[in-house]
Formats: sequence, structure tokens, C-alpha cells
Amino acid sequence: MNQALLDELIEWLRIPSVSTGEPDREGLERAATWAAERVRAAGGTAELVRIEGGNPLVVGELRAVREDAPTVLIYGHYDVQGPEPLDGWASPPFEPTIRGGRLYARGAADDKGNFYPLLRVACELARAGELPVHVRVLIEGEEEVGGNSVAAWLRQDERGADVAIVFDGGMADADTPAITVGLRGIVQLNVVVRVGQRDLHSGMYGGSVLNALHVVHDMIAAVRPGPDGRVREELRAGIEEPPVAELESWKRLKPGAEVLAEVGGRPLDANAARDYYPRNGADASLDVNHVEAGAPRTVVPAEARMTLSLRLAPRQRLEEIEPVLVKLLRDAAPPGAEVEMSGHHGEPALFDVESPALQLAKRALDRATGMQTAFVRTGGSIPVVADMAAAGIPAIVSGFTLPDDAFHAPNESYELRSLELGEAAARELLRALADLPTGGA
Ligand code: BES
Ligand code: MN
Ligand code: MN
Repeated sequence: MNQALLDELIEWLRIPSVSTGEPDREGLERAATWAAERVRAAGGTAELVRIEGGNPLVVGELRAVREDAPTVLIYGHYDVQGPEPLDGWASPPFEPTIRGGRLYARGAADDKGNFYPLLRVACELARAGELPVHVRVLIEGEEEVGGNSVAAWLRQDERGADVAIVFDGGMADADTPAITVGLRGIVQLNVVVRVGQRDLHSGMYGGSVLNALHVVHDMIAAVRPGPDGRVREELRAGIEEPPVAELESWKRLKPGAEVLAEVGGRPLDANAARDYYPRNGADASLDVNHVEAGAPRTVVPAEARMTLSLRLAPRQRLEEIEPVLVKLLRDAAPPGAEVEMSGHHGEPALFDVESPALQLAKRALDRATGMQTAFVRTGGSIPVVADMAAAGIPAIVSGFTLPDDAFHAPNESYELRSLELGEAAARELLRALADLPTGGA
């Protein structure tokens, strides 16, 4: 194990850069500053860029040995999800601890531990005067809350890059590194329903006044998937059958039944296990994430809150789907109910497996790991990837997380082996990308 890499990562993980819920502004600032300093210490330049009160972006650069080398944008996020519930952790979330070959901490897998080997290898090569490509560094602090800063930055950036490496994804399984070529989009909505100033006595007023919880129920009924898990027809525009070759390749992945059983998930219907990959990679899904209202007493609730998220299949478009979802919800609320909605969204992304950058990346990952790299899709979302595609930058989305890493949950951890794989992969990728034709960034 590279002890210096581990020690530095542990330093970064100690900084509680939580962006969700009640964000830790000071922690976010410190985590961004920490990363910028790594780049400067390697002889590069780095600054914190703030866009409209958002969390700072770390934007930096490390120059290649050869001026005519291609430009590679490396991306990660320093923000982490809140650690709650705290009593679920065997060791405190911001006191990184190694047990049984794993590093435990919030952010150990998502994304500090996944990304840091890439940043460190770039810095190390730069310091040694051996960097084979120009590296532009882009580390954001709003990924977990679907913030807009990174998208805004990419839109105004005139230099671009020949290719991006995004280390915020996972392996197909412990023996199969992966390049993620499909990511789902997301519309996440926070809904607040108000039907009065205060809760009312359900004996005195029940049956006569609106009930906020019932309104939320009606809204859920209007959008929730049927018993087969498929989202409503109105929300399916743009969904495409995956190509046969891709369907075939998914048959070589771990059977869906095992994927679900591993995390204790119970199949939604009789076909859920069989169809795990096509559902997750090529279909939309809608889940109610949270509902809060009322009290376990005889009241008619005046206010109810709900969070729901719709995942968009690759090729679906926010512009087309989001207004439909919002209208279905609004139309389900009766006159007299005040409905407020806020939230965030990200477009899906899909890349061509045959593109030169992805083929080159696959061979580099094969060499670095001694394993066969698979092209996969994920049901998760990394909104910046679509923003990169829109800016004409093909993205190599990879990384070494595994289902046991419990990211977003208590006891998040990352295998030390994943750190080593990440380091080897980063080195080999940067080397291989030196052969990419340049667009002159
Ligand atoms: N790293 C994940 C996305 C991911 C999940 C990639 C699984 C590959 C496999 C990312 O940090 C994440 O959690 N994204 C959020 C985005 C949302 C809050 C806009 C997600 O997918 O829920
Ligand atoms: Mn992530
Ligand atoms: Mn995440």
C-alpha cells in the first residue's frame, strides 16, 4: 500500500465537507482548499471558483512535459452526504479508521477515496517532470445536492479538454473493472403541501376540511409506478431499447437476483431480478424518498412534505419529462391546497463504446489491473457527465467502488485494494491518453 497516499487521503477525509441537509460551509471550504493546495504543491496552479453563492469549485492545472500533449480534465467531488444516523457507525464518520483491509469514513468511497488516487498520480507525475498530458483539475462541492456551479463553469469555459476522466463510479464486480457508458438523469422534487395554518382536531373538523397528508397521498398515486415497477406512459418519452449487443453483454454480469439479494433488497415483481440490468441501465424509475406529516394523534395535518425522485433513462430529456411530472403532481392536488415545489435535476448521459478515447481507456485499465474491463451502465446519476458531453468532452467514467462500500449509508468504506487499483489505473490512463489526437486546448 502507498502509505503517503493513504495518509493524505485520511487528512482529506477528516474534513467534514457535508453538502446535504444542513451544509457544513466551513468544512466544504477547507476540503476545497486542501485539494487546491495539493495541486499547488505539485507545481501546478489552482484556485477556488465561487459561482452565485455555491460551494467552491477547485479549478486547477498541471502542465505536461510536451507542450503539444492532449488535455485531460480530471473530475471528482469533495462534498459528501450527511453521516446520519450517527449511531449506525462503528467508528466516527470523520475519524478515518482501517479495519479488515478497508478504510472507514464518510467519503471513503464517494468520492474522496475514489478520486484522490487520480489527483495524486497527476500531481506525482507533474512533480517528477513526467506528466504525459496536460491535466486540468475540476473538483466540485455540490455533486450530492445536484448543484449548478459545475455546469455553469463548464458552459463559460472556453478551453475545454480532449477528454475527461471521472473517478466517481464503480467496478462491475470485484474481478471486473468498468467504464460506465450510461448514466441515468434525475429529477428530484421536494414538495410542500399546505392546507391551513395549524393542525386541526380530527373529531371536530375531520371530513370537513382538507388534509395535507391525504393530498400528498393523491399526488403520489398520480405518479407512482404500477405493480410492475414501470413508470407511467406520460413519463416514458425517449426511452429506447438497448442495442442487442449490450443486452447480450449484460448476461455476463452478476445475475440480477444476486445483486438484489446482496443488499437485502426484495424483488418488486416476478421479473425484477431477471430484468435488473435493463431496468437499471435503460429504463426510468420513480421512487418516493421521504414523507413527513402529522403526528400519531387525532389531528388533521395542515402541512405535509415529500421528496421524490424520477430517474431518466439515457436519451430521455429533462426538458420534455420534468414539466410532465410537475403537472401530474399539481393536477392531483385539489383547489385549496397550496403546493410548493423545489429541487434539482441532471440530464442522463450515454457514450459510444467504440469511441477512440473509450477503447484506449479500456486497454489501459486492462493493463493496469490485469483484469478484463467491462463497459456498463449505472442506474445512478452524475449530472456533470452530461454537461461535459454537451461541451464536447467525452468522459471516461470509472472508479473502483463496490456494492459493499455502503456509500451514502453508515459505515461507508473503501477497500485498500480499490485505492491501489485506482492508483495503477490513473497512471496507466494518463499515459495512454497521451496518444489521443489533440483538439488543441
Ligand atoms: N457517485 C454517485 C453516483 C453513482 C452511483 C455512480 C452509483 C455510479 C454508481 C454520486 O455521488 C451520487 O450519489 N449521485 C447522486 C446524484 C443526485 C444527488 C443528483 C445520485 O445518483 O443519487
Ligand atoms: Mn459520487
Ligand atoms: Mn454520492
